[in-house]
Amino acid sequence: MVKAVVLGASGGIGQPLSLLLKASPLVDELALYDVVNTPGVAADLSHISSVAKITGYLPKDDGLKLALTGADVVVIPAGIPRKPGMTRDDLFKVNAGIVKTLVEGIAQFAPKAFTLVISNPVNSTVPIAAEVLKDAGVFDPKRLFGVTTLDVVRAETFTQEFSGVKNASDATIPVIGGHSGETIVPLFSKVSPSFQIPADRYDALVKRVQFGGDEVVQAKDGAGSATLSMAFAGFRFAEAVIKASKGEKGIVEPTFIYLPGVAGGDEIAKATGVEFFSTPVELGPNGAEKAINILEGVTEQEKKLLEACITGLKGNIEKGVEFAKNSP
Ligand code: NAD
Ligand code: LMR
Repeated sequence: MVKAVVLGASGGIGQPLSLLLKASPLVDELALYDVVNTPGVAADLSHISSVAKITGYLPKDDGLKLALTGADVVVIPAGIPRKPGMTRDDLFKVNAGIVKTLVEGIAQFAPKAFTLVISNPVNSTVPIAAEVLKDAGVFDPKRLFGVTTLDVVRAETFTQEFSGVKNASDATIPVIGGHSGETIVPLFSKVSPSFQIPADRYDALVKRVQFGGDEVVQAKDGAGSATLSMAFAGFRFAEAVIKASKGEKGIVEPTFIYLPGVAGGDEIAKATGVEFFSTPVELGPNGAEKAINILEGVTEQEKKLLEACITGLKGNIEKGVEFAKNSP
């Protein structure tokens, strides 16, 4: 039996993500939590003739506790999105506190759940989540994931004309590092099946993957950021975690993890100088079974991308850790 929980379920991502989870035969129970509108969203989804039993909670009457109790997988898309001209780091002020409070709830009511953080800035909200769980004495690094799947989905989509695969997701394109601008590093030299990006298209493609989020923010013109593609990506990652937890083998997805707590992670932490990093991770019954190091043999262009990534990432991680340590 799998209980999935969405924290921030009434939002632009939360609603379509909840729809996908409700429709999935892998989910037996789905609990929706938000500060507004969850009774309505849950009532609407409850008419869908799929297996999952659905409930909706607000903060009143112990809503967070009831939503989280018995959870196997918790996905967090709670928090404000960007408007044009903002960076993801501009969201820190509001979203850091939201994520901290919600993860305190997870530490108390669902300490063994797989926790999937979507809320931005992911490079800082995941370190916040780790600190909160550590503080509560329940941190299992194998169970905490920053969701960077949208970067992978974008890379698959934007390179389809070169990969030649019918379904863009049939190409495996590692995107590593973090989840904002230059911290997002697509490794086109490591794609499988292998294909070439023409030299005159390389820079533009890298930039498009790194700044794909801005493309959507500008097109939405003040109405928010990616929601539908994010729901697709968030569901893809949640489904991967659930399938692996049920024993399916060979599932690998890039995700932003605390390296020292996952097998193989120390080597990547040593090579990069950061403790949190997105890298392909083999998933298993206990979550992140193995962090796969694909840094060997990257091209000179990719080395430069990685240098910029690490510089940005260090600051983002420190900011999250400091916040968690210093806020009451
Ligand atoms: P949204 O404003 O449409 O929805 C956010 C929801 O969070 C709202 O329903 C709001 O009521 C809820 N919320 C606020 N405070 C809460 C709290 N304390 N507890 C529970 N729920 C709370 O925003 P959105 O477009 O769904 O985006 C949500 C977040 O996801 C943003 O931070 C955005 O930047 C991020 N995001 C991340 C990725 C990624 O790749 N990781 C992609 C897209 C968006
Ligand atoms: C994205 O990559 O689309 C998200 O992180 C949302 C954003 O702010 O761009």
